[in-house]
Amino acid sequence: MDKKQVILVVDPEVDFLEWAQNQLSTPTTRVITSTSADQGYKLFCKESPDLLITETHLSPFSGQELLVKVRQREPNAIVVLTSQFGTTQAVIESMKLGAFDFIRKETLPFNLKVVVDAALKAQAEMKAATTVKPRLTVEEHQDSIVGTSAAMQQVFKLIGRVSASDAPVMITGESGSGKELVARAVHHYSPRNNKSFVAINCAAIPEQLLESELFGHEKGAFTGAAAQRAGRFEQCNGGTLFLDEIGDMPLQLQSKILRVLQDGQFSRVGGNETLRSDVRIITATNKNLEQEVHEKHFREDLFYRLNVVRIQLPPLRQRTEDIRILAEYFLRKVATRKHLPQLELSEEAVRVLEAHNWPGNVRELENVIQRACVMASSELILPKDLPLGEAIPAESAQQHASATDPATTAATAHQAPVSTEAAIEILLKAAQNATDVQLLPWLEREFTLYAMKATKGNQVRAAKLLGITRATLRKRIERFAITRELTIS
Ligand SMILES: Nc1ncnc2c1ncn2[C@@H]1O[C@H](COP(=O)(O)OP(=O)(O)OP(=O)(O)O)[C@@H](O)[C@H]1O
Ligand SMILES: [Mg+2]
Repeated sequence: MDKKQVILVVDPEVDFLEWAQNQLSTPTTRVITSTSADQGYKLFCKESPDLLITETHLSPFSGQELLVKVRQREPNAIVVLTSQFGTTQAVIESMKLGAFDFIRKETLPFNLKVVVDAALKAQAEMKAATTVKPRLTVEEHQDSIVGTSAAMQQVFKLIGRVSASDAPVMITGESGSGKELVARAVHHYSPRNNKSFVAINCAAIPEQLLESELFGHEKGAFTGAAAQRAGRFEQCNGGTLFLDEIGDMPLQLQSKILRVLQDGQFSRVGGNETLRSDVRIITATNKNLEQEVHEKHFREDLFYRLNVVRIQLPPLRQRTEDIRILAEYFLRKVATRKHLPQLELSEEAVRVLEAHNWPGNVRELENVIQRACVMASSELILPKDLPLGEAIPAESAQQHASATDPATTAATAHQAPVSTEAAIEILLKAAQNATDVQLLPWLEREFTLYAMKATKGNQVRAAKLLGITRATLRKRIERFAITRELTIS
């Protein structure tokens, strides 16, 4: 006599609740709903549902708080959070608080059933399991890892899941894909975050120095060792040690690392004393370590010790949906750092960025955006402003050649004040190619700049030349970030 499964859905939108009810009700599943967090909690206590699906934005308290209350009462409760936005921080924090999953609402029509089935299955399997009480502190932290793609959401969930433990984490991914950023996030969200995070690049330090860098040395241990020195393992006690490019760790040192991992013990170079250190290890590599193990360049036992949790960062070209928000994030960053108004990307520029294949991943995108901010001649970044180099793959380069054509013309025209004819030509070409050169803001800035140059920065005369008031000119100067240096150059 199987009892009906019960799913509780809490969401402020009645429409959403109806939709969920339709989707999830079956002859064996009963769906109950509530529009507020407090009512939802009461229903939870009354009905002990097998699964709680709750929106994060609720009143009178948030979905995360509901999650915490529910899990305090029922430590094995399975809770899935949903959100319209799903910021990095929200996803990580929610997973850390013990959410079973976090779903961005835009993906819901496709994966609601999948998540619910997985959650109910886990519920069935977990009946006897005990759960560690979640840490309830929520730190103030800016969203610094950006990404809404499914692949990145997966990464955030993993960060949330592993942060509470001391398990070694191995982060893999191409160069510039964000490995170090993820390592820092794991530390930041861990109970060790009041202790140090130390990063060491194993490939950058010569082999002879790496051992003493990591483990320290005794006075006179080798030529130049004038005094005793503590290594990173000692300095980092209680914290997190990030061994970057672990694939380049010399074999002889690998055994010493293995020992620390096994029993927390090591000794300084040239010393006999056994020291202890409590360090969480995070490693990263862009090598194929399995292959390195196979070729006997990397110890198999160490590999298994380090590879307890694997976070695989997808290359940027496989998460094109992140490109726009990453680019906008970097534009904000440049504007804040330089105290300048934030530039915007034209749709055409976004399309060009999305079609690029990004061999240097997010780092390359950040560089391109920084340089574009310098190149841009208006508040809108156009394709011509994007220094993408030769790295565009053959087939999309073809497609770009025509798309960027008018912009290239604009770039050439930038050398001298444009004539009306030249401006019209740019517009016509753009219209033919159905592209979007955003000519007017660009011209506006060009003319303002040239008027300022022509009058050697005399605002009264420049305003007269342009046929605008001085106040308007001032606003433009500010908006277009026309500095004194630009005026006299
Ligand atoms: N998802 C992201 N959101 C915001 N910034 C990012 C993201 N991923 C990477 N970055 C930024 O891109 C740059 C490169 O990232 P990071 O140094 O973490 O890459 P990496 O994988 O360690 O690269 P390498 O293999 O070359 O060491 C950094 O400035 C980082 O802040
Ligand atoms: Mg790195």
